[in-house]
Amino acid sequence: MYTYPDVDDRITLRFIDEAEPYPGYWARSDERAMARAANRLAKLLGPRETVAALDVGCGPGRMLSWLARLAGTIVAIDPDAARLARATEMAAALGDSAGIETRVSTVDEVTEGPFDLVLCSHIIQHIPTTELVPLLNRLRELTAPDGVLVLTYTRAPVGAERFTLDRVTGGGVESLDVDQARFDEAAQGRLAEKVLPIHYRDPIQLAQLGRRLGWSEVWSWSFHVLQDSPRFRAVADRDELVNATPALLRKFGRDAVALWRPQTATGAFPDADNARR
Ligand SMILES: C[S@@+](CC[C@H](N)C(=O)[O-])C[C@H]1O[C@@H](n2cnc3c(N)ncnc32)[C@H](O)[C@@H]1O
Repeated sequence: MYTYPDVDDRITLRFIDEAEPYPGYWARSDERAMARAANRLAKLLGPRETVAALDVGCGPGRMLSWLARLAGTIVAIDPDAARLARATEMAAALGDSAGIETRVSTVDEVTEGPFDLVLCSHIIQHIPTTELVPLLNRLRELTAPDGVLVLTYTRAPVGAERFTLDRVTGGGVESLDVDQARFDEAAQGRLAEKVLPIHYRDPIQLAQLGRRLGWSEVWSWSFHVLQDSPRFRAVADRDELVNATPALLRKFGRDAVALWRPQTATGAFPDADNARR
């Protein structure tokens, strides 16, 4: 039975507290990124009641209300039973009209589909490196030919992928840089200590991998800009500045959200944001 190493997201919540440039920034940056993604999805998907969604690795159900605004039915799965139990409570709070079914499951065990909308939010940075391609291929099978995958992940500056093991110590969150082999050991649950393995992925390399596997990235947005720059002090929204400035976008942003479609998908998606990539 799988257990996610960051129990109650304690390491992540502590990290946010320490890393956000000012109180409330993390949540606001997240909301704005996902609101932008939802606006684009609304142009790609049919009316809400016709949209079937899958939330892969839903955890405690943080994204269920966001998803319920876009989809009439949702299957929400997570391999960790304790986290899934919290998603079930969240689904109950959203009510029957949200059409949510929660289940302890891996993607390989999903029997329904294909789905119009598949969400894979903050999963791929924690899985062993050898599991990424099988996961993306399975998500491709589970996504309808005209459907969309929403992939959110921890990103690296372009060309600077790294692996860390994070844990809470007396002094706060310690991020230990490790090599890929050590990361994989942790992600496979082979270390005695509870550490959160994080693979900071290069967004360009990830999009290229997606293309090789039959996906097209149609939009992306970087957020959680934790690094400091004198340029950020002069603007109201640092995320907007980063995403509008190619040189900054290569370096800044701790997370990214991307919309991927099967290469079979029809319909152009003209969007100024994508001209940069
Ligand atoms: C950082 S949490 C993300 C939760 C939620 N998607 C969100 O964005 O808030 C990562 C979740 O991935 C789940 N997970 C781990 N390995 C997985 C896998 N191979 N497939 C799907 N989910 C997985 C964990 O149990 C955990 O709940």
